[in-house]
Amino acid sequence: MFHPFLVLGLWILPILAAGPSQLAINPLKKTTLLYQFPNGTWIENVAVRSTNSLLLTLVTTPDLYALDPSSPNPQPELLHTFHNATALFGIAEYAPDIFAVVAGNYSLPGSMTEGSFALYKVDFSSEECAKNPGAKPRVSLLAPVPEAASINGICTLSTAGGKLLLADITRGQVFSFDPHTRKTVLVVPPTNPLVKVASSAFGTVGVDGLRTFDDHLYAANLGTGILGKLAINADGTPQAGSELIVIARAADGTNWDDLVVDDVGTVYAVTSSGNTVVRVRPGGEQEVIAGHPDSMEIDEPTAVALSRGDMKNEKLFVVTGGGALAPGNEIVGGQVLAVDL
Ligand SMILES: *[C@@H]1O[C@H](CO)[C@@H](O)[C@H](O)[C@H]1NC(C)=O
Ligand SMILES: *[C@@H]1O[C@H](CO)[C@@H](O)[C@H](O)[C@H]1NC(C)=O
Ligand SMILES: *[C@@H]1O[C@H](CO)[C@@H](O)[C@H](O)[C@H]1NC(C)=O
Repeated sequence: MFHPFLVLGLWILPILAAGPSQLAINPLKKTTLLYQFPNGTWIENVAVRSTNSLLLTLVTTPDLYALDPSSPNPQPELLHTFHNATALFGIAEYAPDIFAVVAGNYSLPGSMTEGSFALYKVDFSSEECAKNPGAKPRVSLLAPVPEAASINGICTLSTAGGKLLLADITRGQVFSFDPHTRKTVLVVPPTNPLVKVASSAFGTVGVDGLRTFDDHLYAANLGTGILGKLAINADGTPQAGSELIVIARAADGTNWDDLVVDDVGTVYAVTSSGNTVVRVRPGGEQEVIAGHPDSMEIDEPTAVALSRGDMKNEKLFVVTGGGALAPGNEIVGGQVLAVDL
């Protein structure tokens, strides 16, 4: 159901809870609620197809949904239920119209079966999908990844090779995965400060969202509160002597969850329990562009993605966990929002 008035009605503790922040809060960008799932639904990640249709992964049920943001009244369409797991996490397009999805056994607020995580292929590249936009993708197991305790964010290592990078948030390390050979290799070890675990409001956790841009691995670390980058080689390993470059530190009471980098190096990151989207320009200037710490308009954002094609970089799509883990937040259903850039 689309309940814009309900969402506006959920402002809590106006001003009172706002501590000093090093960030300018200037949420001038127009934010539109596209769809809100039923109460208690947590959306974990979002990918944008070349058609700008959104793919949404849920944690609260192992379900993959599609949502067309251009529809006047967007409604989610269930594409697939991953019965061999209880939750879905990262999603990334590694070949044209072919996506990898992470599935594993996890239940909120944090009960997890270590080593139960696997990558699945979600393939829209068939002729049938091209002819009929409503056709379901073909889903198949790529490989179990027992090397990782768990996998949260994933991204492509390079657009050419189709290799993926996988963030093990539990042990604070990054693996590469080759969908063709199905081999998993540890590339950034748990000692690296970009990815390592640290204790936080979400427990002892490390690297969460990740992206690659311009020979760098960009990562949001939920445990250390650091949004940073590291120069990497073509295989995903850190370049010799490369050091963590801090892009931004999470303000008190917030954490970085996921990020996206546009083609000039501007980073858009979501602050999880901070309820905001922050833009960091390549020069380091940072600003809240959507949401507010004291508003449930964006209730515990979990992931971001940019629009593509003829709408390239015009909109930022944001998904949320509906406040389920953020202290003091009102619990609503997972939200799908569009921010006009
Ligand atoms: C994960 O959960 C599924 C669905 O409940 C179950 O069938 C499977 O055995 C579990 N796998 C592991 C490794 O615990
Ligand atoms: C189910 O998940 C487990 C753990 O990742 C994996 O070993 C197994 O191959 C999967 N089975 C199917 C049918 O996907
Ligand atoms: C959603 O569920 C939570 C408990 O899980 C409850 O506290 C909250 O009031 C519910 N909100 C709505 C809008 O129903």
